[in-house]
Amino acid sequence: MRDEVRHAIDPYQASAPLLERLKGCAERSAAAFHTPGHKRGQGISSILSDWLGQAVFQADLPELPELDNLFAPDGVIQQAQALAAAAFGAEQTWFLANGSTCGVEAAVLATCQPGEKIILPRNVHQSAIAALILSGAVPVFVQPDYDASWDVAHGVSLDAIEAAIEQHPDAKAVLVVSPTYYGVVSPVQSIAEIAHQHNIPLLVDEAHGAHFAFHPELPPSALSQGADVVVQSIHKTLSALTQAAMLHVQGDRIDRDRLIRSLSLVQSTSPNYLLLASLDAARQQMATQGYALMEQALNLAKRARQELRQIPELALLDDRSNQVSSFADLDLTRITIDVTGLGLTGFAADEQLHETFGVTAELPGLRHLTFIVSLGNTEADIDRLVSAFHQLATELKPQNQPEPNSLYPSAFRLLPSALSLLTPRQAFFSAAVSVPIAHAIDHISAELVCPYPPGIPVLLPGEVITAEAIEYLQKVLAAGGIVAGCTDSTLNTLSIVKG
Ligand SMILES: Cc1ncc(COP(=O)(O)O)c(C=O)c1O
Repeated sequence: MRDEVRHAIDPYQASAPLLERLKGCAERSAAAFHTPGHKRGQGISSILSDWLGQAVFQADLPELPELDNLFAPDGVIQQAQALAAAAFGAEQTWFLANGSTCGVEAAVLATCQPGEKIILPRNVHQSAIAALILSGAVPVFVQPDYDASWDVAHGVSLDAIEAAIEQHPDAKAVLVVSPTYYGVVSPVQSIAEIAHQHNIPLLVDEAHGAHFAFHPELPPSALSQGADVVVQSIHKTLSALTQAAMLHVQGDRIDRDRLIRSLSLVQSTSPNYLLLASLDAARQQMATQGYALMEQALNLAKRARQELRQIPELALLDDRSNQVSSFADLDLTRITIDVTGLGLTGFAADEQLHETFGVTAELPGLRHLTFIVSLGNTEADIDRLVSAFHQLATELKPQNQPEPNSLYPSAFRLLPSALSLLTPRQAFFSAAVSVPIAHAIDHISAELVCPYPPGIPVLLPGEVITAEAIEYLQKVLAAGGIVAGCTDSTLNTLSIVKG
């Protein structure tokens, strides 16, 4: 597929049927007596239109007859989705207006019934935990490889998945996150093969890997490795608007009718056409210029890596330094930098970079920062990134730096999954009580508690709250991070299942 994309562009891929139809509808004169209430921008607040102009609001239209219907497509949405399937290497593709979040939820709802097992790594995104709560599926957690030198959880090894399948051959799905937020790709092909030997479908959360199909120097896409369902945030690494995503399917292990019903449970009945049209545009862009755009992004990222490596205080996460079995490949456009040599936490470095230099990372952590280089970046952006780090390392470097290891005495070890007898769904729906955090230890969490980003929960509903988990969360807060998903984001209190 990747070679096809590079060498033989289907002329039809140059069109954008949904976008073109939306433009036609927006330009047509009409008396609108339908939603949205601003009526093609005529009633939009002037503080919005003075800023953004009228065109965007003229195009903010509902499901007019010409515009097809996301939940029963037989017109331009169907055509746009078929073009996307061909461009990304799927048999069938669905546009999502509610992010990969709803795609992951629908994939689990479509494969697992209440009480059925799903094998998944403990460091899944919170959308997968939401999927467990919604579906009632019972998680069989496998531990991802933990890289202590980076305080980062990578992917899952084939051995871990194989052992879980052998112990739980009745599992209805395997879900993996590949790539991780740090660009680390799991051995998806071998995982697919072992899952398929047991007739178990493989669902891949490829939220951060929508660009993979378009350049051979990027890791292979999960679809090309045999995954049955792949969910991609087209907005994260390609050019779609925030929240616009796709779900791709191939093969016959997935009940597509149930998938369609599942998607309609987790999406708005009023999907935003600007988001949907942006998916059509992003697909058209990648199908026609994807190779060149990815070549450019890779070159920028390689240059950034090379120049950042010259700064002795920094260390870069790269493929040579992390040979664990779950580290099958690395997306070079994802740059993770350990900043402890600067005597700063990732959060403090993030603040300095953002406030002083206008350089904004995707993801700060306790020890490191992760940057996404994409088709939208320029040489000037890389200049600014490198120069900001040079200045951080020289002019702004704090005096009397503490030893990095004294700053980070016990980094986050992926917590052994201390699940109680309650599934996430049972715990979520149990009677709960809010208690001071110190009293919560050894009780069962009624809520999900999750530093964001990366959105990987430290506590799940149904999990026993450990002192180690609380210590880590408090450290994130103290270092300037955000803890989300729970009722009290200051973490003075936690919700526990009533004993
Ligand atoms: C691994 C992973 N999966 C899923 C999601 C959800 O994606 P979206 O923001 O498109 O809903 C995210 C978002 O950060 C993510 O990091």
